Amino acid sequence: MLRYLTAGESHGKTLTGILDGFPAGVRIDAARVARGLERRRRAPGRSARQEIESDAVEITGGVSKGLTTGAPIALLLPNAAGLPDHADPWIVKPGHADLAGSLKYDVPPAVIRERASARETAVRTALGAFPLRLLELLGIEITSRVTIIDGGVNLASARSPDPAVAAGMLAIINKARRQGRTLGGAFEICADGVPAGLGSHAQADRRLSARLASAMFAINSVKGVEIGGGFQLAAASTENTVDFPEIDSGRVVFRTNRAGGIEGGITNGSQLVICCWLKPPPAFDWPVPSVNLKTGKKTAFRPVRHDVTAVPAAAVIAEAMTAFEITNTLLEKFGGDSLSEIKPRVDAWRRRIKKLLRGA
Ligand SMILES: Cc1cc2nc3c(=O)[nH]c(=O)nc-3n(C[C@H](O)[C@H](O)[C@H](O)COP(=O)(O)O)c2cc1C
Repeated sequence: MLRYLTAGESHGKTLTGILDGFPAGVRIDAARVARGLERRRRAPGRSARQEIESDAVEITGGVSKGLTTGAPIALLLPNAAGLPDHADPWIVKPGHADLAGSLKYDVPPAVIRERASARETAVRTALGAFPLRLLELLGIEITSRVTIIDGGVNLASARSPDPAVAAGMLAIINKARRQGRTLGGAFEICADGVPAGLGSHAQADRRLSARLASAMFAINSVKGVEIGGGFQLAAASTENTVDFPEIDSGRVVFRTNRAGGIEGGITNGSQLVICCWLKPPPAFDWPVPSVNLKTGKKTAFRPVRHDVTAVPAAAVIAEAMTAFEITNTLLEKFGGDSLSEIKPRVDAWRRRIKKLLRGA
């Protein structure tokens, strides 16, 4: 099945990505891969580092004359930013993998930080362009939007991009930047056109909901994941937590989507809806209390450049992560090594389902 691996450090020479098990015959150009990276890099709330990085990605394997070949896809993503000047590599950056990682691997916290950094998610975003493209060719579209920045400020007034909402979000981010604060928040991922019948109830590790939650929690800073009605369902009265099937012109139809498109780990033809909650980046513009693991003494961690918020960038990363998981269940169900083999199978399945169910 589809699997990916990444390697490289935040300030190393280059990041490397490999995507294995991706079908042949999918037309994709470097510009499309670059577009996802650009959206992640230019997302509101990023630090000055993003001006240094050009994210000039190079596809070094698995693509020939603009078409995937079925061989592993390989990417190189060079880093331009140099290592920030840390006074002492043994000082722990609080709120990061530093302490636990240093104890585990017996290397300085600064070394752990280099790999734990969210810079690695750039190469995941780049690799994600491939499943996103495959899904697009199969009629499945994945989109994201920021819904909340800074706790209570709810920006979810419109599904379509609303310039007033975007301006409000930018104002909150710019104010926080001036005040030296960082901001958490939430984003939503939607997938349209996902055929019913992906994932399975039959084993724990085949539930698409479980796989999506795992993929979302693999994004740095994500502290909560909801599917459909999510946390609110816990306190709602039962009849408001269920999607009741109805019959319309002889076909099953859902008028609500509290399940977020997945029931019992299986897609039910409704829109897939996921919401992720992120903590603020654990970074400060002033020295904060910490420890030096070499000396065993109390010390301060001094400020380094940092993002004001990770939420808009994480939404772009999550589109890629969602695409990996949907593609995996799709390949499990339909098999096939090339687009020409997969597409007719998906189309035939859609025709079959359409007789019974209105929706995807
Ligand atoms: C896109 C993105 C950008 C981030 N930028 C920063 C940053 O500039 N500074 C920082 O201290 N943490 C940043 N973080 C957060 C850390 O990567 C993360 O919070 C940290 O590794 C520990 O969180 P975890 O326990 O969830 O992994 C960022 C996260 C994401 C997703």
